[in-house]
Amino acid sequence: MWLNVHILTLVLAILSAVKAATFNVAISTGGHAQPDTLYGLMYEDINHVCYAQLASSSRAHIFISQSGDGGLYAELIQNRAFQQVTPGTSAALNSWAALNAASRISVVRSNVPVSAALPNALSLAVNAGTTDSVGFTNTGFWGFPVTANTRYQGSFYYRFPNPPSNQVSGNFNVDLRSTGGTVFTSTSVPFTSSAGWKKVTFTFTPSATQASANNLFAVSVTGATVSGLTVEFTLVSLFPPTFNNRPNGMRIDISQALADLKPTFFRFPGGNNLEGQTPARRWIWNNTIGDLLDRPGRQGDWSYVNTDGLGLFDYLQWIEDMGMEPIMGVWAGYTLNTQSVPENQLGPYVQEVLDQIHFAISDSSTNAQGRRRAALGHPAPFNVRYVEIGNEDWISAGGLASYNNYRWRVFASAISTTFPQLRLISTSGTSGNVPSVSGPRPIYWDLHIYENPNWFRNSAYNFDILPRNDLRFFQGEYAVTNANNGTRLSYPTVEGAITEAAYMTGFDRNSDIVFAAAYAPLLNHISSTQWTPNLISYSPNTLFKSTSYYVQQMFGVYKGDFYLTSTTNTASAPVQWSVTRNTSAGQVYLKVINTSTSAHTVVFTLPSSITTINAAGTGRILTGAAATMNTPSSPNAVVPRSFTFTAGRTITYSAVAWSASVLVVGAR
Ligand SMILES: *[C@@H]1O[C@H](CO)[C@@H](O)[C@H](O)[C@H]1NC(C)=O
Ligand SMILES: *[C@@H]1O[C@H](CO)[C@@H](O)[C@H](O)[C@H]1NC(C)=O
Ligand SMILES: *[C@@H]1O[C@H](CO)[C@@H](O)[C@H](O)[C@H]1NC(C)=O
Ligand SMILES: *[C@@H]1O[C@H](CO)[C@@H](O)[C@H](O)[C@H]1NC(C)=O
Repeated sequence: MWLNVHILTLVLAILSAVKAATFNVAISTGGHAQPDTLYGLMYEDINHVCYAQLASSSRAHIFISQSGDGGLYAELIQNRAFQQVTPGTSAALNSWAALNAASRISVVRSNVPVSAALPNALSLAVNAGTTDSVGFTNTGFWGFPVTANTRYQGSFYYRFPNPPSNQVSGNFNVDLRSTGGTVFTSTSVPFTSSAGWKKVTFTFTPSATQASANNLFAVSVTGATVSGLTVEFTLVSLFPPTFNNRPNGMRIDISQALADLKPTFFRFPGGNNLEGQTPARRWIWNNTIGDLLDRPGRQGDWSYVNTDGLGLFDYLQWIEDMGMEPIMGVWAGYTLNTQSVPENQLGPYVQEVLDQIHFAISDSSTNAQGRRRAALGHPAPFNVRYVEIGNEDWISAGGLASYNNYRWRVFASAISTTFPQLRLISTSGTSGNVPSVSGPRPIYWDLHIYENPNWFRNSAYNFDILPRNDLRFFQGEYAVTNANNGTRLSYPTVEGAITEAAYMTGFDRNSDIVFAAAYAPLLNHISSTQWTPNLISYSPNTLFKSTSYYVQQMFGVYKGDFYLTSTTNTASAPVQWSVTRNTSAGQVYLKVINTSTSAHTVVFTLPSSITTINAAGTGRILTGAAATMNTPSSPNAVVPRSFTFTAGRTITYSAVAWSASVLVVGAR
């Protein structure tokens, strides 16, 4: 998208000139610091296909990839509070079923809602004369994990809308069971026939792990105790243990896989997810905080309801727990139906954004939103330095025009007046040739690219050719999404990952102007995949890492704090490298990316300013046949392995075809 004609010409000229060669790489003492933020994560709660770009006929087929609900957010019950559904419809019963014919379930608008935000409830109407066990099941997000010695914590609300004159009492049984009805773990909670809502909480701990996640959650009751009665239920919740033991927290295995990338930042709450289909359906921060009873949820961008259980405070707390810093997106008056809010109607939205930022960073003793944050348990401001205004505002001509003419100006002026310390990221640049935007001059630009392996290989020098001025770039989204023949990838391939790595040497080399970069999208539930490829995929009880994941990990873990200038290769050359130094650890990291099938060798010479160099080093390499992918049936087809090598001032390295390697040398 932003490869201009001049680079293309250069690329073609060089391609034809490539021959087998030895690259003698002289490493200088000079260079530049690696930014704190360089390698991080881009989170999108929905897949990020641009709705406006799709033919209307295909829009109906776009759902979400369950990155938040059913993914990072650890809640196990799907459609737990019947948010944003139409009572009485079968769609409202999504993922719920009656246990047997002795009772009927439906979603109703409760006469006495449990809260203003949650008007709906599941109604269980039990036939008169029933003695069988009655109740209902939930399918979870395509199943439930059943893990030995793991304490699951649940809760729900219930009421009897027409209680009998003689109060009845009994027990609700709650359990995890196979679809065939074998109960793996259960407990019971007492009830009385109260007309008002009552909350029950429970825990259970399976004693054995089930290999299959094809399981159900069930609530049941002996028919005799409730025969002829109706019971309403809502906010039915079940959590496994969460990352850092946070209530309403995140899935541990996904958090750990992300932490293992050593990410420095987290861009949230998404791109398209932030925008919404219409202004009314935008992401509204204050609907996502506080008690779950007060979160109405939101019709997501596709045919999907977001619970907003994963809300602004939850994101910020988890980002802090993960040792990352937020890159916080704010809504900028543009929606996926390509509508721009007119300038004279932006006032309330600007105030909403200012309040969102106040909530994240303002003093809890002087600011009302800061006080709300403190009341939720975080008096100290969160460490927000970067705020991104909008998402892909260049995606339609109208969006680009309104952003450049007034939307950036209105939001950026208001934010920078109130929060002069913040770095504001503009999204309307699709290339280093940034457009002219009215209002405060944008310094930080978010660029996105989804392309094929050839593009990534040939574009490793895209940032080298940019002028050195005060502009700073965020490669906010990028991925190899298609094979060179145009075939869409279902999972990242070796070819894709290695050409991404070649491109990423350009981030190291240009980290004086590239301050951050993130592969996208991050997360994918394998039973609800709509956008491919993704970095990490999972089911309720498995998780696997893609080839691209291991490349991201290599650059994240071996970022170093200083980039050492070295002899550069030519654009589109089959072998690329970058050299960084971890000063405190006394290590030099030599990354070598080989997208070649012909012979080249790299000979690195460390500068004389480095006086003590170990005679041997350890390395990591990711390599495989070009088209290989890690898939659910073959999750470890390609994983990195370690090796040792002879080091010293001069290091000769020949990496195999289709490989990304890092050589770690003790060197002070
Ligand atoms: C969020 O703020 C908007 C106005 O900005 C208001 O209409 C809405 O009721 C608020 N939501 C909650 C849950 O407080
Ligand atoms: C396109 O390329 C991919 C990856 O190299 C390969 O697996 C696939 O078979 C090719 N498809 C066609 C139609 O040539
Ligand atoms: C430097 O090395 C130490 C020790 O291995 C590691 O903990 C740290 O993350 C590294 N820092 C960078 C910026 O690579
Ligand atoms: C790249 O791979 C090719 C093919 O395996 C090999 O001949 C060459 O030596 C490798 N080059 C480097 C620099 O690792």
